[in-house]
Order: sequence, then C-alpha cells, then structure tokens
Amino acid sequence: MPISLHNSLFILETDRTAYAFGLNQAGLLAHSYWGERLPFLDDYPVPPNPGAWGPFNNPSQLTPEEYPGYEDMKYVEPCLKVTQADGVRDISPRFEGCEIDGDTLRITLRDGVYPLRVTLHYRVIAAYDLIERWATLTNDGAVPMTIERAFSAQWHLPTGDHYRLTHLHGRWFDEMHIERTALAHGVTVLESRRLTSSHHHHPWFALDDGRADEEQGAVWFGLLDWSGNWKLAAEVTDFASTRVSIGVNDWDFAWRLGAGEVFTTPRSLAGFTRGGFGAASRTMHDYVREQVLPHPRVVHPVYYNSWEATLFDVNFESQARLARLAAQLGAEMFMIDDGWYKGRFSQSSGLGDWMPDPHKFPDGLERLIAYVRELGMEFGLWFEPEMVNPDSDLYRAHPEWVIRYPTREPRLGRDALHLNLARADVQAYLIDALDHMLSRYDIRYANWDMNRNVSEPGWQDAPGEPRELWIRYVDGLYHVWDSIRRKHPQVIWQSCSGGGGRIDLGMLRMSDLIWISDNSGAPDRLGIQAGYSLMFPATTMQAWVTDQQRDVPFRFRFHAAMCGMLGVGADITRWSAAEMEEARDLIAEYKTIRPLVQFGDLYRLRPADQQGFTAVQYMSKDQREGVLLAFRTFVGQHEPSLTLRLRGLIPGALYRVEGCDGVRSGAAWMNLDLQFGLYGGLGNYSSTLRRITMIDS
Ligand code: GLA
Repeated sequence: MPISLHNSLFILETDRTAYAFGLNQAGLLAHSYWGERLPFLDDYPVPPNPGAWGPFNNPSQLTPEEYPGYEDMKYVEPCLKVTQADGVRDISPRFEGCEIDGDTLRITLRDGVYPLRVTLHYRVIAAYDLIERWATLTNDGAVPMTIERAFSAQWHLPTGDHYRLTHLHGRWFDEMHIERTALAHGVTVLESRRLTSSHHHHPWFALDDGRADEEQGAVWFGLLDWSGNWKLAAEVTDFASTRVSIGVNDWDFAWRLGAGEVFTTPRSLAGFTRGGFGAASRTMHDYVREQVLPHPRVVHPVYYNSWEATLFDVNFESQARLARLAAQLGAEMFMIDDGWYKGRFSQSSGLGDWMPDPHKFPDGLERLIAYVRELGMEFGLWFEPEMVNPDSDLYRAHPEWVIRYPTREPRLGRDALHLNLARADVQAYLIDALDHMLSRYDIRYANWDMNRNVSEPGWQDAPGEPRELWIRYVDGLYHVWDSIRRKHPQVIWQSCSGGGGRIDLGMLRMSDLIWISDNSGAPDRLGIQAGYSLMFPATTMQAWVTDQQRDVPFRFRFHAAMCGMLGVGADITRWSAAEMEEARDLIAEYKTIRPLVQFGDLYRLRPADQQGFTAVQYMSKDQREGVLLAFRTFVGQHEPSLTLRLRGLIPGALYRVEGCDGVRSGAAWMNLDLQFGLYGGLGNYSSTLRRITMIDS
C-alpha cells in the first residue's frame, strides 16, 4: 500500500522514500516526516505540537502545516489567501475528511464560517520515489470570493538543519547557471512575472545540507508543473523550520471563484534521495522519459535547421540547396524555421498568417516537402502561434485579439504583439490554422516558438476578473496545443522560447524536444547543458552545431552537441569539403551512441561551470554499454594532468574503455584516475569521445 492511515498519521511510501503528516492536537494538518522509507509504520513520528514562544509567537506559527491559510498569528508564508465578499481576509481551512484512492490521497479541509472547501491531493509515484501534490478550491456557497494566492504545495524539510538551495538562473543567450547558496533566515523568493516560466529562473529546486555532491548525500528536490508565472518561496523560520512553497505567482493575481466553481492549482512534484544530485537528476530523467513525454520511445532523428543559414530568405531554391547538403551529411529531418509564411520578409511582418508565402513558394510547399522526402529526410516546420505582427492580415482583421490596455499603446517585443490565448476566439483560430497546415502538408516535426515576454497585461472584454489572464492564458495555450496534438498525434513537437525562455514540465507534456538556448557556441553550451541536465533528460535537449564560436575546433563543437539530440544549424553551403566529410563521420558516429544518450543514465563526471575540464557519461540501463564525452575548455599549460573516474559500471563485470589499455573490472574503472589525452600539448578546446563496453567473461 503506498498510502496508509496509521494512528491518525497519513504515511505515503514510495519504493525508497516516505512522507508523513497528520492532525496535531490543535487540529492543524502538520507535517512530520520526509526522507528515507522506514521499516515499520510505527517508526514514523507523530505530528508536532509546538507550544507558544512568549506572547509573540503562537503555536500555529510554529506548526509546519501542509497547507497553511492566511489567518491567526502565523506570519509564515501561507499557501492560501482569500478575500470574502464581506471583506474578511482570514481563512481557516480545517480537516473534514479524507479518501484514499489507490495511489492518491485526498484530504478535505473546510472553513468554519465561509463556504470554501479546500481539497489537498497527494499522488504517490512509488517506482520513481516522487510525490505529486496539488489543491482544488471549491466555492460551496452562493456568493463569489476572490482568491489572491493558491499555491500547489508547501514542502517541509526536516527541522533543525541548515540547508543549501540549488537553483538555476540566467538570461536570454546565457541560461541555466547552477547556483548553490546557503538559505538565510527569512524568505528567498524566485519567480517569473513574464507569462512564461522564463529564461531567468526555473520552477525547480534542490535542497541539501551543504554536503551533498554528484555521488552522495541527502537531496530534496522538486518542481512546478506549469508554464506560466510561478513563485517559489523558500523560508527558514526563526524556529529552525525550512519549507519551500511553490505555485502560480500571486503577483498581480486574482481569481474570482463564483458559486459552485472550482479552481485547480498546477501540480508540484518532489522527491528525496540519498544519492546526491546525480541520483536526483536520474530520477527526474527516468520519470520524464517514461511518464511525461508524448512520444517516450521515439528515437529522434539527426536534424538540420535552416534558420541560421537563410534567416528570412526562405524559398524553394535556398532550402533545396541546403536540403541536398544536409542529406549528404546524414541528416534525417530537415526543418524550415521562421521565414516561410505569408508576408514574412523580415521580423516585422507576417506573424499570425500561417500559410506558405505564395511568392516564396510559387509551386506550393508540397514541392519542397516532396524534394526533402526524396532525399530520405522527414520534413519539419516552425510556428510562433502566440505572436502577431501589426503588419499582418490577422492583426488587421482582429486588433482586439492582443493583450493590451485600451488606454495604452501596446509595446512591441521583437516587432510583435502578444495574442491573448485566454480568449476562446483566439484559441479557435490557432487550432484551425495549425490543424490546416498539419492536415494539408506532410509535416512530421513542428517547432512551437515564443519570442517575447508580456507587457501591458490587459484583457479587453474580459468576462470576469482580468487578472485571471495569468492562468487562463496558460490554460488556453495548453488547450490549443493539446487539441492539435490529439488531431495529429504523430507530429513531434519541439518547444522554444528564444531558446530557454519556457523550460518546464508543462512544456514537456506538449513537446518531446526543447531548444534550450539560442546560444549554440559549444564552450558556453556545455554549462547550459549541465544546468539543464539537473532537471531534464538529454533526450529532450536539442543541440545544434552552428557557426557560432567558429574558432572552436569542429570536433569539439560536434562533441558538445552529441551530448544531446544532435542537429546541425549552420550555413553548410559555406562548410569546406573537409568539414563536410568530418561532419558526415561524426554524425555517423553519433547515430551509434544515440540510444545511450537518449535512453541511458547520465553521470556528470566533472562540473561544467567551475573548471576548464568537464565530462559526462551515459550508461545503458543494463550497464553493458556506455559513452564518455570529455572536454577541455580552458586549462593552463602547466596544470597537472586531467583525470576522470567512470561511474555507473557493475563493479564485478569486465569492461573495455576505448583508447585505454586492458580489460578491467567496473570497480577498477571507477577507482582509477584515467587520462584521456586532453592535457599538455593538445591545448584548450580539445575533446574526446570514448565508448565503454562490457566484455562477456
Ligand atoms: C527564436 C529562436 C530561434 C529562431 C528564431 C526565428 O529566436 O530561438 O531558434 O527560431 O526565433 O525567428
């Protein structure tokens, strides 16, 4: 049983972890345990019953509540804040009942005076050692109330320890920096107010006591399954209690909950491991690959994307020429990026008019698709459904469809305005336009891009509270995308938002692939990829070789992209014959390691962000085969030699490692300091790829 009700304690057990809480003597739903699974149900502690601390701190403030409301003398971060029609802003959800339904537990709380029902949902994902939480709020009365904060969960850590927060931060072209910082007393807030999860922070966290590393140590980690505004509040109270609240951002947020209506929060997923950051990542990788992605077992093609080669200068001739060369390289999919649709001659026109431009394709897009398919490749196409240029037929017909205030001039972002996907008419238009394209043309891959953040977030003709835009927009986005996916389930989607502007679990439910950064310069990319790998698996990580940082050796650029789903995005008409030949060989080699990168276990052998020497290793699930990719970015000439130890091998089995002498046990390879020729004379920006093979004894 993954869920037990034992001595008034709710105990949620995964294969290796457990999470417990229950009603304390004051009637509050209080957290009592999150960590390793214990042998007996009696092992789990009863919920705490703290006393007051002088006249200034009531017991309620000192209780680690599962879902605190804004009430009493608490002053800690609440999960819930509601204003009633009579102006009362105090909410006291108290236990009413519970229901266990297989792997899901539902707890009902109810306010004693106002007709608000709060249901807390817990889903135990036993095989992945994860717990998923969300809440639904129901107005059982006749009068509307206004929700001003509704988080998905508050996750409590064992009391007493000092914790370190690991999170990701960055900006456009420079995403995914890993930051590790001791949590100070008070509240540390990470958030997005951009209507996307953003390039700047990601709705993901990991906490440890400061001693965990890639290999070992207790790590609590989690995320929010949501692609819009979000907020994470990591709080350390003055009573040594640490908790992470996570949910949709309450900044500029309000939701009118009418009679009989239900508001459902997004889901938050969290886990615990003693295996350090490496194990935490691998848990998420397995879960995403096996339970989240729309096409879990598809082997992704090596693809060519023509964006950086032709920009807006897209027509049959320019694309056919690139397609011929891409096929020679061994690409399996050819994607036209921006620039193919009606009136798209620069970034300031055409967005919104999703039909091929008749001047660019006088014989129709069919001719190019047929040509690409004759060359043995699949065809892919780019869209940016959420945006509209003022210079477009769509905007001329429907200026009222954009997000704006009537009294303000809406700001342009990359020359575009933001369509309001909260509107049903906008949703219907997009579903129709995309459905038409995917029905008419043989498109196997599609890229959904999104290239600006919101401003003037007004909703003209809003049927209710206009600040519901923050949620209803994202629900609209999911609705449009889901409708298209249902109509065209064979299409594999890629998600992009100027690179890494919308990287979250919500996107991975829609798209199998993510373009994680517009920066494809290989040395920078290694750090961006390492940050991404903390959360999500390599099978979702598109990685192109482009002409950015062209002074970096060709092999290095390829090897960096071979850590993910390899593509080429360069102007290959300018590549020399020698480069074409080398690229062909490297792509052929990549195809042989692709199953390991896509479906294997990832080990980060050396961090990418602290040293000039970094390496990753992928091992097949049966541990029989692996591949190591190591990179020297910048190491001084006189530094001692650079060594690595392998991971993820069976200690007693025998392995050969390409380029190293001898057959040795897994234990030996994991304990010996191995040199891979990246030191000394070879210089900086050298890289190596080594296969690891088990030898049957
Ligand atoms: C964004 C994407 C790029 C490319 C351009 C096209 O910047 O991140 O990869 O698709 O849009 O306009």
